[in-house]
Amino acid sequence: MKISKICCIGAGYVGGPTMAVIAQKCPEIKVTVVDINEARIAAWNDENLDNLPVYEPGLDKVVGEARGRNLFFSTQVDAAIQEAEMVFISVNTPTKTYGEGKGQAADLKWIELCARQIAAASDSDKIVVEKSTLPVRTAEAVKDILSNTGNGVKFQILSNPEFLAEGTAVEDLQQADRVLIGGENSPEGKEAIQALVDIYAHWIPRERILTTNVWSSELSKLTANAVLAQRVSSINALSELCEVTEADIDEVARAIGADSRIGGKFLKASVGFGGSCFQKDILNLVYISRSYGLTEVADYWEQVIKMNDHQKGRFARKIVKSLYNTVSGKKIAFLGWAFKKDTNDTRESAAIYVADQLLNEKAQISVFDPKVKYQQIQSDINYLQTRGKEENGALLESVADPYEACKDSHAVAILTEWDEFVQYDWKKIYDSMLKPAKIFDGRNILDHEQLREIGFRVYAIGKPLE
Ligand SMILES: NC(=O)c1ccc[n+]([C@@H]2O[C@H](COP(=O)([O-])OP(=O)(O)OC[C@H]3O[C@@H](n4cnc5c(N)ncnc54)[C@H](O)[C@@H]3O)[C@@H](O)[C@H]2O)c1
Repeated sequence: MKISKICCIGAGYVGGPTMAVIAQKCPEIKVTVVDINEARIAAWNDENLDNLPVYEPGLDKVVGEARGRNLFFSTQVDAAIQEAEMVFISVNTPTKTYGEGKGQAADLKWIELCARQIAAASDSDKIVVEKSTLPVRTAEAVKDILSNTGNGVKFQILSNPEFLAEGTAVEDLQQADRVLIGGENSPEGKEAIQALVDIYAHWIPRERILTTNVWSSELSKLTANAVLAQRVSSINALSELCEVTEADIDEVARAIGADSRIGGKFLKASVGFGGSCFQKDILNLVYISRSYGLTEVADYWEQVIKMNDHQKGRFARKIVKSLYNTVSGKKIAFLGWAFKKDTNDTRESAAIYVADQLLNEKAQISVFDPKVKYQQIQSDINYLQTRGKEENGALLESVADPYEACKDSHAVAILTEWDEFVQYDWKKIYDSMLKPAKIFDGRNILDHEQLREIGFRVYAIGKPLE
């Protein structure tokens, strides 16, 4: 089966970059990315590639190459579904905020809506690909909806979870460690799997394209995120121990990471992980385990989240404590708001929770982030509903210049590991701050020795104080 037209529902952080790379690598396939969010589609179609709604290094080039040739962004969802032989579902699957499973289970409202829309709009057989991260056995529900509300049309469901990391999405897509495709073990299932394998085989070596049953594929995505997050929580747990024993977490990480059985990646201690996926996917895993009565399994993975919350909380408490137990009316500069460098995504960013705790203490926070705008910062903090919008607006500002953010502050906190922070003129920043000037390096990226020579008091994660 040869695919000539693809539709992708959801033009977000996954749908946009993933489809842009498929279109770049498969010029003979027409790829249409659709979304109900008109502003987002307009931004994807913006002449000026600096205005794309997702910031990822190299994405502007890929979109610039394929857009208008075989890559299209549109709000015409039904038309795109109708003409495609393969439909990707790449909509959001956030944690439920209401009802049964509130705070843990994935909210599958948008997935179900997509399935119903695909069923209603289709008048020819289609392969439906789950690109969104979904609880294990979701394909069963999708299949049930498709086969009971369709127009006699046949659907094959594949699971093809996305493993890209924001900040390196284009590179991850172009040189994926592996691509995972789960499908039914029937002749039609195998044919559908092959059709998707053929697409990825345009640029991914065949041995890196793994095929499994649908349930293994769905569960592998959740567990990949759980295991990655677990490494972060493990190293962060050890960072607290380092601070009281005068061991140095970077030295410990280097020492354990040199063991080839452990490996060096994802052992960087920090203020805590963020992003839209880790927490949501682990909570989902916890919920599923608990719903099967596996209490110990659920408790085990839940601890990864608890450790992360603790790490964010103790970073904020450390700032308050070192500023003589009061930050009321004191200016604190935040460098970074995005959940990691090289992305404009702020979902679940540690910065939001650290800020919220400091705002409870009536601190005045001034934020600088190279890619995040004021509106987003306000919307993130207002979303928590800890206090009114007016109060948030009065206590939390964002400025376009990092030196302006730091001027007259009592402390600077590094919340995102943007490379440019390392290059700043730290002497100039020191001179403009109130004394004693303090730095809280939540990402351990700065040269602490040099900062101490300038006169700063430096607090880092998992490091002795002096
Ligand atoms: N962000 C990541 O790094 C990442 C990585 C791997 C997997 N995932 C998974 O991919 C999925 C999408 O994540 P994201 O970060 O791209 O989300 P996102 O919120 O950035 O994008 C989802 C888009 O889907 C659109 N949408 C929702 N319902 C729709 C409908 N019925 N019709 C048309 N459009 C609709 C929304 O308007 C939104 O623009 C999630 O399941 C997530 O867990 C995300």
